[in-house]
Amino acid sequence: MSGDRIAGRYQVLGALGQGAQGSVLLALDEQTQREVALKTLAEERVTPALAAVLRAEFEHLRSLDHPGLVRVLEFVVAEGRPYLVLERVGGEELTTWAARGDRVERALEIAEPLLRALSHLHRRGLCHLDVKPAHVLVAEGGQPVLLDLGLAARPGEVAEGGTPGYAAPEVLLGFPVDRRADLYGLGVTLLEACGSPLEALPQNARAFLERLLASDRNRRPSSAGEALAELSVARGVPSPAESDEGLLPIEGSLRGREAALAHLHEAEVALVTGLAGAGRSRLLREASLPAAREGALVLWVDFARGHLDDLGALAPLLTRFGVPLSGGDANVRRARILVEAGRRLLVAAEAQPLLVGR
Ligand SMILES: Nc1ncnc2c1ncn2[C@@H]1O[C@H](COP(=O)(O)OP(=O)(O)OP(=O)(O)O)[C@@H](O)[C@H]1O
Ligand SMILES: [Mg+2]
Repeated sequence: MSGDRIAGRYQVLGALGQGAQGSVLLALDEQTQREVALKTLAEERVTPALAAVLRAEFEHLRSLDHPGLVRVLEFVVAEGRPYLVLERVGGEELTTWAARGDRVERALEIAEPLLRALSHLHRRGLCHLDVKPAHVLVAEGGQPVLLDLGLAARPGEVAEGGTPGYAAPEVLLGFPVDRRADLYGLGVTLLEACGSPLEALPQNARAFLERLLASDRNRRPSSAGEALAELSVARGVPSPAESDEGLLPIEGSLRGREAALAHLHEAEVALVTGLAGAGRSRLLREASLPAAREGALVLWVDFARGHLDDLGALAPLLTRFGVPLSGGDANVRRARILVEAGRRLLVAAEAQPLLVGR
């Protein structure tokens, strides 16, 4: 690859990274005499679907303009292969950088510009969804740059993937995402930069990271701006507030409904009623998250869309919960085993009163 010339302009100098689907090449832009990074697909991976993902990353990056977010130059297709042309980011990976000083101090220091970059991204209506140390390069002078918008999505969408160990639980479980997923990813990233378990951290760092790492997203800060305010308390230094202007409200925010949520967590069986659009599904989705994390079978059944076959299969259980139905198959066996093992089962019906049980 080295020595190749791409699109009549980019002279390949070497490799910067290797991903599951392709690679990132270091190249010299002969027109500007600057180094660039070319993100491309492996030859055998060049499919219209994967090329579209790279193209989407280009479109997302093009809408951003922040020193903490990698800058995109162009998108080219050369000899049938797509290339995302990025500004080459110098510097070292976050954990390497952190290890060259007081790790905890450095993690809290780098948190500020990273939160500002996330705030910019969120105000442009995007969630990164793959915040992890390998995606943060720290340039000389301490400016971190966040890379790889390959998984970015809009709030309310379901993530196309996520890195286990870094992605927020709601991302890995296929729940509609919002910006708080990035605060979780940042929490894991910073904790890794600290290089010690939460319990071993000084109280201020621990309290700050615990908030980011709450598996219930309603217990995380609600925006990067709010996290910045908490960071400034943790560091004991004033930091200019980050504007929340342009931030969409979190869809179906559960603020003010904490009591209802707590009740659902406690209840053996609960009936959730309300008008369509009142946020019943949202409430149940949140309520089911901890159960799903514990490995419970979470079933979503939509009466209105005629999922009666699935529902029929759950008849014996539903009868126990007072919903008479008939039918039976493998799903029931699975559900029965889980329930017998003392795990929770949640059944939700969209256009009807919603049912929760365990
Ligand atoms: N603009 C850039 N400047 C310098 N290095 C970069 C740049 N973009 C990417 N890299 C390097 O290449 C690696 C992979 O980049 P990126 O995560 O965007 O690709 P990927 O195909 O999604 O890889 P993976 O699947 O491993 O996440 C990064 O972790 C980083 O080390
Ligand atoms: Mg990546």
